[in-house]
Amino acid sequence: MAAIVSIFTFVFAIVSVSNLCLIQAQNSGFSIEFIHRDSPKSPLYNHLDTTYNRVTNALRRSFGRVHRLKLTTASKLEAQANVIADSGEYLLNISIGTPAFDIVAIADTGSDLIWTQCKPCSQCFEQNAPLFDPTASSTYKTISCSTSQCANLEGSSCSSNNSCQYSVSYGDGSFSDGDLAADTLTLGSTSDLRVVIPNVVIGCGHHNGGTFDENDMGIIGLGGGEVSLISQLGTSIAGKFSYCLLPLTDAGNSSKMNFGSDAIVSGNGTVSTPLTKLDPPTFYFLTLEAISVGNNRINFTSKPFGTDEGNIIIDSGTTMTLLPDDFYSQLESSVSSMINATKVKGPEGLNLCYDATTDFAVPDITVHFIGADVKLQALNTFAMVSETTACFTFAPIPDFAIYGNLAQMNFLVGYDTEKKTVSFKPTDCSKN
Ligand SMILES: *[C@@H]1O[C@H](CO)[C@@H](O)[C@H](O)[C@H]1NC(C)=O
Ligand SMILES: *[C@@H]1O[C@H](CO)[C@@H](O)[C@H](O)[C@H]1NC(C)=O
Ligand SMILES: *[C@@H]1O[C@H](CO)[C@@H](O)[C@H](O)[C@H]1NC(C)=O
Ligand SMILES: *[C@@H]1O[C@H](CO)[C@@H](O)[C@H](O)[C@H]1NC(C)=O
Ligand SMILES: *[C@@H]1O[C@H](CO)[C@@H](O)[C@H](O)[C@H]1NC(C)=O
Ligand SMILES: *[C@@H]1O[C@H](CO)[C@@H](O)[C@H](O)[C@H]1NC(C)=O
Repeated sequence: MAAIVSIFTFVFAIVSVSNLCLIQAQNSGFSIEFIHRDSPKSPLYNHLDTTYNRVTNALRRSFGRVHRLKLTTASKLEAQANVIADSGEYLLNISIGTPAFDIVAIADTGSDLIWTQCKPCSQCFEQNAPLFDPTASSTYKTISCSTSQCANLEGSSCSSNNSCQYSVSYGDGSFSDGDLAADTLTLGSTSDLRVVIPNVVIGCGHHNGGTFDENDMGIIGLGGGEVSLISQLGTSIAGKFSYCLLPLTDAGNSSKMNFGSDAIVSGNGTVSTPLTKLDPPTFYFLTLEAISVGNNRINFTSKPFGTDEGNIIIDSGTTMTLLPDDFYSQLESSVSSMINATKVKGPEGLNLCYDATTDFAVPDITVHFIGADVKLQALNTFAMVSETTACFTFAPIPDFAIYGNLAQMNFLVGYDTEKKTVSFKPTDCSKN
């Protein structure tokens, strides 16, 4: 039996002038299960897929996702855009409303809004899952147009009754429209406690369509914008969250996502680098100085976002690490010069693949963020895409840079939005 503990039993609330409900916590660290979409615990799990299919599909999804993230940086109007099929690799179980209605939602560090499909639904993308019924929740309140959440949400508009309507559109033509509302959000923590957060701003989608998976019941935006889960938890988690991603071969076990005092990353081997706020605030921008392959240091001088500081986005929902073409080609030639194995053609989008029927050694690769040298393991840099083929997990992309989740596996990655840092600590995530 899960105990239910309201965050308010040990915190007190401050309602700021902007009407954003902030929660001031004294002692509110907690962790929740972070489920890979290919885990048997995930509703997206397909038991017919082989491990290799799963890896190849995950690598392929990187390209769809980066297309969407690019649209987001290119146009403010697309700031909430999502391609659902590519909106993330990890799921969180949450509940909305009172009584609690359970939802399995995609955790997305590349968007802000938390939303789910709601009744009445004039157009819905799922066929099997039940829909959240706002009239059945005693804690549901629509949000008026005068709030900062409404004003700061791209694509929001006012209906004649002064309620805030949101509209999110997606790179591939998919969309969700509905009411912006406040309701209770419940997170199931790994300590068997449930963390109950009142008055969380959510999107209640009444009109949704496009290429959504029938099992996706919503999105949890973990970005840096005002309506994301992280920003709304705000001071109650001291702006801190962390995760430890299991290697793909272990995806059957769940990872954890930690908040507040549980999300502090410190101790032996921890390195930290500054987090830079650029436009859109959704994304977590870091500054990459160079990547070393063995002793060969390749400086990163591209400015994909126009500035020296903040030249790469760290994302949990993109599988591969994607780097500007000219830098990537230097990196690839350095890596391939240090590998003694037979090159083979890999799946589309993967440029550097080898015959792995006999073992081969891969060079040490160190990613130099400002102030933080992150030394990658072979599992971060090469992935088996079939029984016989291993491919480099970095790929070229024009005018963009994204540090993907394979490069983050077996690191405890901590975001501190108050200190404005991201920390990396080498960790065996299966023991974490
Ligand atoms: C999350 O929800 C799904 C579907 O309801 C369920 O199968 C799964 O076991 C849940 N996972 C956790 C960690 O509660
Ligand atoms: C206001 O109108 C919108 C549609 O125009 C509707 O979705 C919403 O529920 C209404 N809100 C209230 C408080 O009646
Ligand atoms: C999950 O982890 C446990 C404990 O580390 C281990 O015994 C189990 O085999 C793992 N399961 C999978 C599917 O990897
Ligand atoms: C710290 O990490 C290094 C290298 O990983 C290891 O050799 C050393 O024993 C560790 N020290 C402690 C106190 O754990
Ligand atoms: C790369 O950057 C380092 C540190 O800023 C600098 O010392 C070095 O000269 C640079 N190398 C090249 C080839 O520009
Ligand atoms: C490359 O691998 C082959 C076959 O394993 C071996 O015979 C050869 O000596 C290796 N060459 C180098 C430079 O390591």
